[in-house]
Amino acid sequence: MTALLEVSGLAKSFDDFTAVAGVDLSLAEGGITGVIGPNGAGKTTFINLLAGKLLPDRGRILFAGADVTRLPASARVRAGIARTFQVTNVFPRLTVEQNVAVPVLARAGQSLKPWRRLEAAEGIHAEVRRLLEAVGLAGRAAEDAAVLSHGDRRLLEIALALACEPRLLLLDEPTAGMGAGERDRILTQVRALAARRSLTILLVEHDMEVVFGLADRIVVLHQGKAIADGVPQRIREDPRVREIYLGDASVDPLPAREGTGAGAPLLRVERLDAGYGLAHVLHGVSFTVARGEIVALLGRNGMGKTTTLRNVAGLNTPWRGSAIFLAEKSIASEPPERIAELGASYVPDDRRIFADLTAAENLRVAELALRRVKSRWTRARIESVFPPLAKLWDRKGRHLSGGEQKMLAIARALTTDPALLLLDEPSEGLGPQIVRILAGALAQIRGEGVTVLLADQNLMFARAVADRALVMERGRLVHAASRAELAGNDPAIHRYLAV
Ligand SMILES: Nc1ncnc2c1ncn2[C@@H]1O[C@H](COP(=O)(O)OP(=O)(O)OP(=O)(O)O)[C@@H](O)[C@H]1O
Ligand SMILES: [Mg+2]
Repeated sequence: MTALLEVSGLAKSFDDFTAVAGVDLSLAEGGITGVIGPNGAGKTTFINLLAGKLLPDRGRILFAGADVTRLPASARVRAGIARTFQVTNVFPRLTVEQNVAVPVLARAGQSLKPWRRLEAAEGIHAEVRRLLEAVGLAGRAAEDAAVLSHGDRRLLEIALALACEPRLLLLDEPTAGMGAGERDRILTQVRALAARRSLTILLVEHDMEVVFGLADRIVVLHQGKAIADGVPQRIREDPRVREIYLGDASVDPLPAREGTGAGAPLLRVERLDAGYGLAHVLHGVSFTVARGEIVALLGRNGMGKTTTLRNVAGLNTPWRGSAIFLAEKSIASEPPERIAELGASYVPDDRRIFADLTAAENLRVAELALRRVKSRWTRARIESVFPPLAKLWDRKGRHLSGGEQKMLAIARALTTDPALLLLDEPSEGLGPQIVRILAGALAQIRGEGVTVLLADQNLMFARAVADRALVMERGRLVHAASRAELAGNDPAIHRYLAV
């Protein structure tokens, strides 16, 4: 039997840097293969080479017996290769159903006319329905894509890819930034797809529960080469893979914080009401964070965690009647640059790296903006927290991998020597080994008196770093957990985080 996909000697360099360094891979039809490896290992580049977004310098790609190595992306889609991206990509102003109709119509040589009812085109409508059912979104067909939760958007993207009737589906970090509940839904749907269709899936993922829960084979990339390939159990036990990527299975919890944080809190949020336009998102949110404390905001996607962080950072203006104090100064109506000057530094979940600046320049901008002459965060110290950055200072932001951008965004916030760090999804997209290093770094920072408020879907990470947790549900704080409760698998937290 010939393989569905036969890759040999595939290589791609950028300037003098080799991202994919001669990969061989043979995939039989059917099943789910996971691709894992450290940040910057070349996973996304490899997917881009398969999908035709990039052309290789060397090597060959055979798909269903035909040479597709130099075909443009559109021709590969027609040949049966479809993909989703590391960053979500849907039309927010179209309904869920219209989004899926776009590629279905395109296949029939037509285009979407939003004023014409889809139901009128019978065959098309049935096909759109079938695709939405395949990803579990049939119930949301008429809603605008903009209102979908993060997880539902990801499922919609998969439906878009399926609309091209692929035989090979390439998924780049399908569960990034997702909580346990949403993640499990994606897992179930992907598993069902693989079982029902004559579909072969190749998936890149940093969430090890997902990879080990889904894949029947795992390929490990490291510095552009496949260094291990086999069944999950073997990969898990492979000493080399443990060393470069997995690290120890768990994140060690930090030692308990010394002192009780007596004295005035660094951050005091009182009756915070906020939202966007007419949408009321936060309802009377009140909490404090003591100096030198690490507090985790937990909650499913869309429950108000990001909005809380944005309001503290001044990127959103709290509604009348709300009060926020940073070191006893009222900041609820201050602009973001003033709040940054007062010592709060915010890392958004989408990183916001300047694409045309190098990694080094991205840091310089932050230093200059705040006129910090001597940060405690020297280049050497940043490199000790994020070793991969050491080799990347001259690389342009747009060329950094997903995880590399994340590390740089956190490093940029640190160079401003903040008193209060606001971190949105800090562990998202980072390999397990780097997540552990980051947890260690936060412990160090806390030891120096820096205060941290973070929102992260990775419960294991939150548990490892946080002194306590606050749980949000529909814009309200509904539960508080002490460090001991967090460590002890507080059932209330699990209840709130499940879908
Ligand atoms: N156009 C480019 N020019 C220069 N370097 C690039 C370019 N594109 C990617 N790279 C580099 O190639 C390496 C591999 O990047 P890639 O995005 O494939 O990594 P990845 O394995 O997907 O990582 P992550 O898990 O962080 O998403 C990275 O170090 C990245 O900085
Ligand atoms: Mg990537």
